Amino acid sequence: MRQDASSDRVRGLRLGVNVDHVATLRQLRGTPYPDVLRAARVCAAAGAHGITVHLREDRRHIQEHDVHTLKAWGGLPLNLEMAAVPAMVEFALAVRPDEVCLVPERRLERTTEGGLDVATRRAELAPVVRALTDAGIVVSLFIEPEPAHLEAAASIGAPYVELHTGRYCTAEGSEAARELDRLVHAARLGHRIGLRINAGHGIHLGNLPGILEIPHLDTLNIGHSLVCEAVFIGLEAAVRAMLEGMRAYRGGRS
Ligand code: PXP
Repeated sequence: MRQDASSDRVRGLRLGVNVDHVATLRQLRGTPYPDVLRAARVCAAAGAHGITVHLREDRRHIQEHDVHTLKAWGGLPLNLEMAAVPAMVEFALAVRPDEVCLVPERRLERTTEGGLDVATRRAELAPVVRALTDAGIVVSLFIEPEPAHLEAAASIGAPYVELHTGRYCTAEGSEAARELDRLVHAARLGHRIGLRINAGHGIHLGNLPGILEIPHLDTLNIGHSLVCEAVFIGLEAAVRAMLEGMRAYRGGRS
């Protein structure tokens, strides 16, 4: 039931939906809902090309069982974002998601705040890229759009990089134009040296036009804005369903 992600690309792009914040809502209350697998199924039905989850060290949203469940479902390719630490590498080698995106992780950050410093961590990252690749997992490195990191990523054999779009997505005016230029140049350089290019972080409908200017993109990974928009697109239907439930109930005590 896995989709052929190459045949139904949109403008040559795949959309990977990050469902972390579905799990955030669940963890906030300790309830069994909202169900991450149900969310993944909705994404698949809507035409998404992949599901992304970040298993953070503090387990603030996605849990190990979510990754196992999504992998067992197999309805869409699974991209696991994780830190390049031994425990996570061991976990990934056991679960075998389709893709792993290596990200830097700081315990108290609200979200991933910057890219991996591949240029200085090359020696440490190279064996991780190799081990995951040897296991048949497609590896991506989440980086700032800087030539040094692109060149380092290519030199250690990473097939993909994911360009951190966060700065562009929150910038305005001339700063936004500068950040977009950095992304465009990085994508061109990456393509020239044989890397495949993904992009993600902070993308929403408002800044999407700029993102679509970036050449050579393969996949956009988007999470937070989709879950936020789902509140407004879905709240009316949820309220109607609750009212219908109240109307339909035939029991009651006096
Ligand atoms: N890509 C990476 C590597 C990320 O860490 C995140 C956030 O977890 C995203 C994409 C998605 O970012 P957002 O939730 O802002 O759309």
